[in-house]
Amino acid sequence: MENIVSKTQLTYKTLAISLTFLFSSVVMAKPNVTIVATGGTIAGAGADATNSATYSAAKVPVDTLINAVPQIQNLANVNGVQALQIASESISDKELLTIARQVNELVKKDDVNGVVITHGTDTLEETAFFLNLVIHTDKPIVVVGSMRPSTAISADGPLNLYGAVALAASPESKGKGVLIFMNDSIFAARDTSKRINIHTNAFGSQWGALGMIVESKPYWFREGVKRNTSKSEFNIDQIKGDSLPLVQITYGSDSMTPIAYDAYAKAGVKAIVHAGTGNGSVPNYLVDTFNKLRSGGMQIIRSSRVADGFVLRNAEQPDDKYDWVVAHDLNPQKARLLTALALTKTTDTKEIQRMFWEY
Ligand code: DGL
Repeated sequence: MENIVSKTQLTYKTLAISLTFLFSSVVMAKPNVTIVATGGTIAGAGADATNSATYSAAKVPVDTLINAVPQIQNLANVNGVQALQIASESISDKELLTIARQVNELVKKDDVNGVVITHGTDTLEETAFFLNLVIHTDKPIVVVGSMRPSTAISADGPLNLYGAVALAASPESKGKGVLIFMNDSIFAARDTSKRINIHTNAFGSQWGALGMIVESKPYWFREGVKRNTSKSEFNIDQIKGDSLPLVQITYGSDSMTPIAYDAYAKAGVKAIVHAGTGNGSVPNYLVDTFNKLRSGGMQIIRSSRVADGFVLRNAEQPDDKYDWVVAHDLNPQKARLLTALALTKTTDTKEIQRMFWEY
């Protein structure tokens, strides 16, 4: 009898060990992805399922977002952290640096293989670009949002989140810079912006998507050529405090006045990104104002209000003569962030211009 009992115990032990091994191998086979939630429409809630545009952003907590898409657990071992709960139009340097520092800590952990950031779409492009410039890692970082709140019929958030986790869990996403995933498309953080303000197909890049995700499988068609993440000279570890050098944007139009420029100078703004007409043009009646500010130390960065194309140096405006910088193909809001980071290192316009060519 004793012999039978000891054999049975041995069988149970063997079974327990093999099941543990099987479980751990399955769990180990799946990458570990952390979702950093910041708010936005993807966490939004409306009064009725028919409210696809009338809702409150930043209401639904990260665990609810994750539990709403149980299938993501098949893609990775997923956990969530609630970094912020904010509508992204209200993100300032303080929140941006909070997000960057939290992502930076996560990617340094050996047991984190990828990071997804859920974010409002209004300034999603700024956060993604900033992370692209200051986080030194080759691990996948994917920023995702939605255009409809979680409570709406055909909410786009759940499938966007599912695709973003699939992207962050894929080894092919390594070393490609920070990625934006929206509406089945994989975009480079650097050159992607919100181009339609009320459509699920909101995001795009004039240089095109990098690829697509279909049923959790990534299909890649191109890669970016600009410096980012591990190859960046900027590093969140070197940025202290909760603010960046103050850089503001002015919007070019007809009948402008120097009032805003003079007010910015008085307020201690270090650089102005001028979203000029056409190829970043400055009206002739403002050139003296610009040059007065430049001689006082203010940096002048010529970007454009025109969505596509890129600002040419010394084409319609004598940038060398006036010691101005051109933003190349970066839109004004991204040029603002790169200028702020540049000013943490230099006030030399040739160095700042190099940074606009390289990032
Ligand atoms: N309030 C906007 C934001 O948080 C909503 C837009 C969205 O997230 O899609 O960015």
